[in-house]
Amino acid sequence: MTIRNIKWKGLLMLALLLFSENSVQASDVINFDKDWRFILADSATMSAGDYNDGHWRRLSLPHDWSIEGDFSASAPCGNSGGALPGGTGWYRKHFNLDDKDKDSRYFIYFDGVYMNSEVWINGTSVGRRPYGFISFEYEITPYINKRGDNTIAVRVDNKNQPNCRWYSGSGIYRHVYLKKSSKARIDKWGVHVDPVLKSDGTADIKATATVDGQAGKKYSVVMSVINPSGKTVSSSTKTITLSKSISSPASMTPDEEYTDRQKRSVVAEYHLDDPVLWSTESPNIYRLKTILKQGSKVIDTEETTFGIRSIVFDAQKGFFLNGKNMKINGVCNHHDLGSLGAAVNEDALYRQLRILKDMGCNSVRCSHNPPAPELLNMCDTMGIMVQDEAFDMWHRRKTKYDYSLYFDEWHERDLADMMLRDRNHPSIIMWSIGNEVLEQWSSADADTLSAEQANLILNQGHKTDDENEVAKGLSINSKLTIHLADIARRYDNTRPVTAGCNEPSPTNHLFRSGALDVIGFNYHNYEVANVPRNFPGKPFMLSESVSSIQTRGNYVMPSDSLIVAPQEWWLPYTDPSFQCSAYDHSRVKWGNTHEETWDLVKHTPYCAGEYIWTGFDYIGEPTPYGFPARSSYFGIIDLAGFPKDVYYMYQSEWTDKTVLHLFPHWNWIEGDSVDMWCYYNQADEVELFVNGKSQGVRTKGPHDYHVMWRVVFEPGEVKVVSRKNGTTVAEQSVRTASSPYTLRLTADKNTLDAEGNELAFITVEVVDSEGNLCPRADNEIRFNVEGPARIESTDNGNPISMERFKADDYLGQSKNAHRMAFNGKALLIVRGDKTGTDALNVVITAKAPDLKTAKLDLKVK
Ligand code: GAL
Repeated sequence: MTIRNIKWKGLLMLALLLFSENSVQASDVINFDKDWRFILADSATMSAGDYNDGHWRRLSLPHDWSIEGDFSASAPCGNSGGALPGGTGWYRKHFNLDDKDKDSRYFIYFDGVYMNSEVWINGTSVGRRPYGFISFEYEITPYINKRGDNTIAVRVDNKNQPNCRWYSGSGIYRHVYLKKSSKARIDKWGVHVDPVLKSDGTADIKATATVDGQAGKKYSVVMSVINPSGKTVSSSTKTITLSKSISSPASMTPDEEYTDRQKRSVVAEYHLDDPVLWSTESPNIYRLKTILKQGSKVIDTEETTFGIRSIVFDAQKGFFLNGKNMKINGVCNHHDLGSLGAAVNEDALYRQLRILKDMGCNSVRCSHNPPAPELLNMCDTMGIMVQDEAFDMWHRRKTKYDYSLYFDEWHERDLADMMLRDRNHPSIIMWSIGNEVLEQWSSADADTLSAEQANLILNQGHKTDDENEVAKGLSINSKLTIHLADIARRYDNTRPVTAGCNEPSPTNHLFRSGALDVIGFNYHNYEVANVPRNFPGKPFMLSESVSSIQTRGNYVMPSDSLIVAPQEWWLPYTDPSFQCSAYDHSRVKWGNTHEETWDLVKHTPYCAGEYIWTGFDYIGEPTPYGFPARSSYFGIIDLAGFPKDVYYMYQSEWTDKTVLHLFPHWNWIEGDSVDMWCYYNQADEVELFVNGKSQGVRTKGPHDYHVMWRVVFEPGEVKVVSRKNGTTVAEQSVRTASSPYTLRLTADKNTLDAEGNELAFITVEVVDSEGNLCPRADNEIRFNVEGPARIESTDNGNPISMERFKADDYLGQSKNAHRMAFNGKALLIVRGDKTGTDALNVVITAKAPDLKTAKLDLKVK
């Protein structure tokens, strides 16, 4: 068997080669995504090995059935969950083995299944896993036919809703692998590399490898450190005999203990005199190659990537990476990939991270759950720091059927597994054990609320404990905090443990526990000044910030008056447009504008940084609106991946690029008063011209992040010029667009792979005959794809669009789709599909009534 599905792409090369625990195993690891059968129905008989699934739909994983559905006001998840269907579905796959080796062992490994999955091999249940965001593996050796046919059946139960405060997706939405080993192997997540950068610039590396083998047998483990240039810089060999008396590491569970196997770890230590460091600018990656031998025979190998860097959180000065003081310029992101839903795709993830990195974002908070492993691999190689978060709730539920139902039984296992899977990633700089858990207060529940209400009230705060309560000492909730932080530290004591807290008082049970290394506030900017007094000696950051609400391309004037929506969590907010303003003057009650938050973070030395809610819009939580709103307004970038204007405010502050961004568009009614905003940097002044007439020079003070002119609209051209010491730095003009003439198609790549793993993201713009974007165009566009490719999805970033994301014929060839433009733009996502053809040329056609048809060519390799 061979390792399939490996792609090479510049920086991504390494990331995509890596297996989930950022390792590649030499014993066979087979991508198991292809040739599954699926049905959205439920019957206990579907687990049987010989069940007739011939009529089921055939598909490849990762798959999310919710994203294929239609939006509905009556969807049980509510519009908070994206107004898309849930339900119970089954996946089955038939595979044949011809393995003569009686000693071989087999494992089935899932990166993530949402949710409540149970897996059967040839009719025997091998395990169930409630948490939809966790990776897991079952040993299936006793149930598999090594010489013959096999069936794997997976039941996925996402019918009880709501169970998530945002869109979860449904199904086997991450990758699956079949793994084969000999009698002994390097354990799952069994290699731990712990590099310590010392103050003298040298590094100590401790590497631990856990052998999962046969009691009484002797093994040797060779571990070699390979530097970023590919040179082996240190190596060691350890021998180990597995005896019956040793205790099993925590990763061994009762269901695994059916054989004579034992697990035991070996430790090797190395010293590097001159390590090359991992940083956000130069994400240098080392590798640890681990070879497991029995006698002279190699029985398993694994490569683990790691990085050498130091992280320090300081109560006075904030955050330091490799001794350099810097802000964590971060964003929170949910796991969905817009119109692709939860179904993981590496190109889609990479596109998101690239857009964020170009903005100057240097960190991502995986809110509020463990991410797809590919995200961590990419962050490692792209130099993006990560806050890895375990849970959105503990005991106390936020929605009726959420993880709180499983917390007691599963939290220890789930948290431990997140730590074991993720702890080698140099990109991870902190662990979060929870987001806004209701255990912050003595009395707080959301039990009787709908998901929409829960999303609003969570941010409202709850009754804080009085002094009598505090005097009682450690509460159950504080003890639970200590317990969870201890679990995290059991697996990694090199990174701080934090939690996103929306109760800023020191009476918060999580803070009172003393178990959090970094105090994380969600919002509550006005409490930041009190942090040194309330939390003496504790490092601090805004674990979540902003919650500004904006629609790309929609401008509400006057732009200098604040819009708070909703005014209070219990008050409905209505506006017939169901849209928000793209000027930075619109926010939720508990939030702040982008500029005021960044100003606070920038000028508060003890604030280590912030994670803005959110980088990308996501499906669900369309605060402040009810249905038909079904996706968020919080993103700096819309659901289709098109930046909103405020993207350039961050770029002007967080990067060295020259930025000059003038908005809004220049298509108004003659005589209208228009607020023109401009973000700029590297200049001391900017001047605006309307049809050549100066509208005045503007400059920014130390707490300003944009300038504004209130001008009278006349058709033609508005132009801004930035200057430094009188010399022009940059110029930008926006012209009045005339009526829509054609469609401009711009693809992010020209070729696609034949395997169908890669996606082309095609930006569609409605333009006039001069090529100017028509900023309000909403033409209905029909797409057709000819040749070896199919339409994966379409979008336009409109949070209230009721058009389905999938192609019109998505259960067939997926060759046709339609999508209205939204404020001039739409997105088409295309995947290579060579089924039944040798053709290589793909032609994409975009048509709209009265517009000139546009075509685009792609190639499939
Ligand atoms: C926070 C919460 C996020 C999201 C956000 C919206 O309180 O942690 O998950 O709901 O509010 O403003």
